[in-house]
Amino acid sequence: MLKRVDILTLFPELIDPYLSSSMLGRAQQRKDLVLLSHDIRAFAHNKHHQVDDIPYGGKMGMVIQVEPTLLALESVKTKVSKTILLTPAGEKLSMSLCRDLVQTEHLVLLSGHYEGFDSRLLNYVDRCVSVGDYVLTGGELPALTLTDTLIRLLPGVLGNDESAVMDSFFNGLLDWDVFTRPQKFDIFKVPDVLVSGHHQNIEHWKIKSSLGNTWRYRPDLLARHPFNKEERDLLRQFFVEEDKNEYNSR
Ligand code: ADE
Repeated sequence: MLKRVDILTLFPELIDPYLSSSMLGRAQQRKDLVLLSHDIRAFAHNKHHQVDDIPYGGKMGMVIQVEPTLLALESVKTKVSKTILLTPAGEKLSMSLCRDLVQTEHLVLLSGHYEGFDSRLLNYVDRCVSVGDYVLTGGELPALTLTDTLIRLLPGVLGNDESAVMDSFFNGLLDWDVFTRPQKFDIFKVPDVLVSGHHQNIEHWKIKSSLGNTWRYRPDLLARHPFNKEERDLLRQFFVEEDKNEYNSR
């Protein structure tokens, strides 16, 4: 189980406030979890701590050198570490990848900037991960996205251990709709069943809402979902109610 994440970056000042706030900050009050950033520039051998240079063959931008990056990596790596490079060329981040990575005791995340790292760095990393098919200015937000997703999978981090299991995507479906006070806002009422106190009806409603939201927003996920009979009946019920819903604005 994950105990430590080290993020190597040229911009620790982008990383540190996020690691020390809100849920990640609280999670580190546990003795068995450490989240740290490290400045790759500290491993440069020149007076100005420069770690980037122009690309061979010509291209716009600067490339981060392999040597200071490897020195930074060696300074945190242990026998149990796995090294992950954040790059748009990596395997797409998903809940199933996170469930796999959270089993690793120590992760070292490499966040590039500018035109990225010298490609020879790929010989020294275990995996490449992308947060999606778009290009950011650096790997800092992707490293934080990955860290955040992993930490909330650790037992005891969320207030209630059930919460991660109930999350969107955990079972391949989106979350059900949630409501809080007031019970009536404008013409929109909280579904009666949620204030009925009838436990089983409420559980059925949650499954129905979750299936309905997945059908509405991510039909690609529903196409891959292994339906049981109860879910099939509840989705059918959702379609019937959807037809009758006069306030439906979605
Ligand atoms: N660095 C820049 N864009 C990225 C992306 N989409 N995923 C991971 N790292 C990145």
